[in-house]
Amino acid sequence: MTVSDLPSPLDPAGVHAAWLPPEALRAIGSRRTLVHGDGLLVETVHDEVARACARYGGSVLHRAPGGGCTGRPGGRPGARAVGREGEPYDLVLALTTADPLPAVAEAVRAGFGRNRGTGDHAAGAEGYVIDRHDDITVVIADDPAGLLYGLFHLVRLGGRAFGGTRRAEHHRPATPRRILDHWDNVDVHPVMGQVERGYAGGSIFWLDGALRDDLSRVRAYGRLLAACGVNAITVNNVNVHAGEARLLTDRLGEVAAIAGELRPYGIQVHLSVGFASPVTLGGLPTADPLDDDVRKWWAAATERVYEALPDFGGYLVKADSEGQPGPFAYGRTHADGANVLAEALAPFGGIVRWRAFVYNHRQDWRDRSTDRARAACDHFAPLDGLFRDNVILQVKHGPIDFQTREPVSPVIAAMPSTRVAVELQVTQEYTGQQRHVCYLAPMWSEVLGFRPWGPGGRAVADVAAGNTASDTEDGAAGGGLVGVSNVGADRYWTGHPLAQANLYAFGRLAWSPDLEPAAILDEWIDLTFAPVTDGDPERLRDALHAIMDDSWRTYESYTAPLGVGFMVRPGHHYGPDVDGYEYTPWGTYHFADRDGVGVDRTRATGTGFTGQYPRPWSEVYESVERCPDELLLFFHHVPYGHVLRSGSTVIQHIYDSHFAGVERVAEARRRWDGLIGAGVVVAPALHTRVRELLDEQLRSAEEWRDQINAYFFRKSGVPDAHGRRIP
Ligand code: GCU
Repeated sequence: MTVSDLPSPLDPAGVHAAWLPPEALRAIGSRRTLVHGDGLLVETVHDEVARACARYGGSVLHRAPGGGCTGRPGGRPGARAVGREGEPYDLVLALTTADPLPAVAEAVRAGFGRNRGTGDHAAGAEGYVIDRHDDITVVIADDPAGLLYGLFHLVRLGGRAFGGTRRAEHHRPATPRRILDHWDNVDVHPVMGQVERGYAGGSIFWLDGALRDDLSRVRAYGRLLAACGVNAITVNNVNVHAGEARLLTDRLGEVAAIAGELRPYGIQVHLSVGFASPVTLGGLPTADPLDDDVRKWWAAATERVYEALPDFGGYLVKADSEGQPGPFAYGRTHADGANVLAEALAPFGGIVRWRAFVYNHRQDWRDRSTDRARAACDHFAPLDGLFRDNVILQVKHGPIDFQTREPVSPVIAAMPSTRVAVELQVTQEYTGQQRHVCYLAPMWSEVLGFRPWGPGGRAVADVAAGNTASDTEDGAAGGGLVGVSNVGADRYWTGHPLAQANLYAFGRLAWSPDLEPAAILDEWIDLTFAPVTDGDPERLRDALHAIMDDSWRTYESYTAPLGVGFMVRPGHHYGPDVDGYEYTPWGTYHFADRDGVGVDRTRATGTGFTGQYPRPWSEVYESVERCPDELLLFFHHVPYGHVLRSGSTVIQHIYDSHFAGVERVAEARRRWDGLIGAGVVVAPALHTRVRELLDEQLRSAEEWRDQINAYFFRKSGVPDAHGRRIP
């Protein structure tokens, strides 16, 4: 057994520790620490440090406000009692509201206020300041959550937190809403299973229709989330089936039990609810949002939720989408629908997240005028300004459905008077289903950095954060960032051990959208592997960067070309099937024929979707010459001989990218194999798991390459310029 296989108290038996192996807290655990302040999350900070001290020989004192020493001394029993009152500390973690502050923390607070030039001492909600003063590392925060995030910042820094001098750093999250949505079912769904689009085993919450008896894993999950910056989860699937609907009423205790495990790590709980609940649960004849009894029902049900869970976050609703009930049945708008729930939540400070994923999934494929990409904007843009303050419109980042490459959804720019949350898919439904390595941070970074109003305008991250700018009139606070979770009961949490990096990166980007994907990967590698790997950590780091940095683009290169999307097997969505959705009602077509391929979404000759963007993108996407190559077939139907901006023809690009993509996967597999015998030892079980998955990735990539290339060769009759074999 290697060190990384050892369980820790918060690392339930046999479960991989992900980015918090005990060794990650070594630097803290070997020092003398003072934790100053009180509150549940301050207790958590103390307990974290105490556990690390028990392992690594340091000590911790917990002092509550008023100067009384109410904390329990940490450290290994019998260890040298350092860090008592009056003795020097290496680390002070202090809550600024707990006066009087230790002198060193007071000095840091004063210095911080001075440096700001405004005299403002506030670290802000969830924020913290890190400084070194008199050789003591100091973290101050205004609220307990900030102290916890500050602690995990120190964990990321490791030994560097305690060396030399450092300038004061102030950290605050870009948005207060950093949420993971679980698509977990309570009952195993006959088609979708325990977790819809889950690729990491069962649910960590439910097993075969019942809440798990042992929720210790949920606590460990909350800890992992807090350590990367996530502060809320939705516990159940957006498709709310009959059993799950009852989580709102008679099964609320299960939600409360989950919340109880997560609360010490500051993770708030949300619930997906069915729009028809007043009928299905309340026995009312209608769920019409303008009906008085319906309003009263939502108000009473919500009051009961807050009695059980005073810190409950709010509701998530998928309405009038893919068969879910919604306000259209009553001739009402989605603003009417969202507002009735918002009204019920408002007295308690709760929010309703209302999904913009509304489209006709019973489309006639012969009808080229209906365009699924248009649907969300067509439905929601006219409702801008009509939602209550505590409604957040949750918008998938692209206009269709989490494809490997999509343009940014125009809804994000179309609703200046609505709070908008951007939804990303951490679970790899369309990006290799946690069998393929596909590090998604580069894609998310592109999305978050995209500027819908052109250079100089706000970025998507600003909209999600609610940042305003002088060139817009937007005063609404943002809706935050939401990810669909990739976690399950699997030993490695995410099926593919390297898919843990996506979960970690989601949290880090939600906290700080400007972070570089490669830097996030470094953090993840340092925490997850460096302390528990025998041999040369730099070799492992190099190999992981080589395998992961460009893995999204690699995946893109051997799957559907140039932004056209889908071409996956219908239903489960794994592996290639070029025409699988072509003649179906789902609205996901590529329109390949013998002459060309792609969807004409122009205003001039197509569906007019390009007109949903503000300038300059409405012009850029409209123009076949200016449209970026990687999105060409999303916006245009072009002949196979069309010359891309890269200089290649469309058909030759398809061949080249598919051959090259498979080569890169083969190279990734070689790199991973090369770690054995190169003086780098990762836990054998982990190495084997990744190795087996890389075998499958290579097999699948070859299948993609051969099907796509053969399909387009047969359609077009154009041979490969390099004469390679196309089956
Ligand atoms: C995709 C996915 C569904 C999911 C839906 C959604 O279409 O395949 O399983 O329910 O997205 O986001 O609601």
